[in-house]
Amino acid sequence: MAEWVAACAVDDVDEEDVIRFDHGGRSFAIYRSPDDQFFATDGFCTREKAHLADGLVMDEIIECPKHNGRFNYKTGQAKGAPVCVNLRTYPVKVEAGKVMIEID
Ligand code: FES
Repeated sequence: MAEWVAACAVDDVDEEDVIRFDHGGRSFAIYRSPDDQFFATDGFCTREKAHLADGLVMDEIIECPKHNGRFNYKTGQAKGAPVCVNLRTYPVKVEAGKVMIEID
């Protein structure tokens, strides 16, 4: 069953940045876009076990720290070699200064 979980405070993530959030044995990446919206994806790259929170946010792109694979963190779409499997994304909402993500 899906549940909304508080991932972090709004102020924990700078604009155009990403942080790691671990919950229930899973790991996620929480993004704040340059236009001040929040997004969430699986934390690990779909190619190997590199955490995307160690990567670089550029506009709507997250660049993996390991082989520089790129994903659109808003849609999860892999943007080409070396990554070809899309990232899973999660619904996000902001409530009372907290960033909430919906996890199943
Ligand atoms: S582990 Fe992410 S691109 Fe290689």
